[in-house]
Amino acid sequence: MRQSLVIANWKLNGDLNLVNQMIDTLSAEAFSAEVVLCPPAPYLYALSTKSKSTKGLNQIKVGAQNCSEFNAGAYTGEIAADMLVDTGCQYVLIGHSERRTLFAESEAAIANKVRNAQQAGLKVVLCIGETLEQRENDQTIEVVKAQLSNVFEDVDFTQLVIAYEPVWAIGTGKTASPEQVQQVHAQIRSMLEQVSPEWGPSIPLLYGGSVKAENAEVLFAQADIDGGLIGGASLKADQFRAICSAVKG
Ligand code: PGA
Repeated sequence: MRQSLVIANWKLNGDLNLVNQMIDTLSAEAFSAEVVLCPPAPYLYALSTKSKSTKGLNQIKVGAQNCSEFNAGAYTGEIAADMLVDTGCQYVLIGHSERRTLFAESEAAIANKVRNAQQAGLKVVLCIGETLEQRENDQTIEVVKAQLSNVFEDVDFTQLVIAYEPVWAIGTGKTASPEQVQQVHAQIRSMLEQVSPEWGPSIPLLYGGSVKAENAEVLFAQADIDGGLIGGASLKADQFRAICSAVKG
């Protein structure tokens, strides 16, 4: 049985009020999926403190949106994986398409981040996905395979989650169809099973890209979709709660 997960990626949005509101809303309900919130870094400690002290049906897990590829030193503005653990993080997103494109994150930097994060004890949510141009040129599978292979050399498969996010579906309102996602996920699954026959079958595969309460259930019902990475719709507590409940046990 694979772990289902619903992860909120707030990006550069939200505030302390939203942290409190989310915990109050989400802890009151029992979900089949593990629920992870990834607010901007300044709110991580408040989130983990409040989450630990809130008694409810569900304990929210804490995740960061990024970590440094360096562990310590003269790197102004960076946050090391170990420091994220100190704030109460258990997860970290790595290789989000906005980091790859807007911040020119290279495959080498992504591989270093994955290694450092896992060594610090964090579960890595590796984000992969093709651009519209790559999809139109029939390069989707080639692109996601290359992004995956980049981290395989020394990854710990037991501490890995994959989030497939077609770049053309992120923040655009254009969701990939459940069949399109399932097709790519099935190929990712078979690649993972080839690389690691032991752990490949149990790595959670999430979909991200304009997931909303209205389309979550049909997406999550696909055989190889184990949950979602949610951007815009994770900023409203009721909407996000509805998405979390769309994962069936
Ligand atoms: P979106 O973002 O749900 O707003 O499309 C998803 C993501 O970027 O992780």
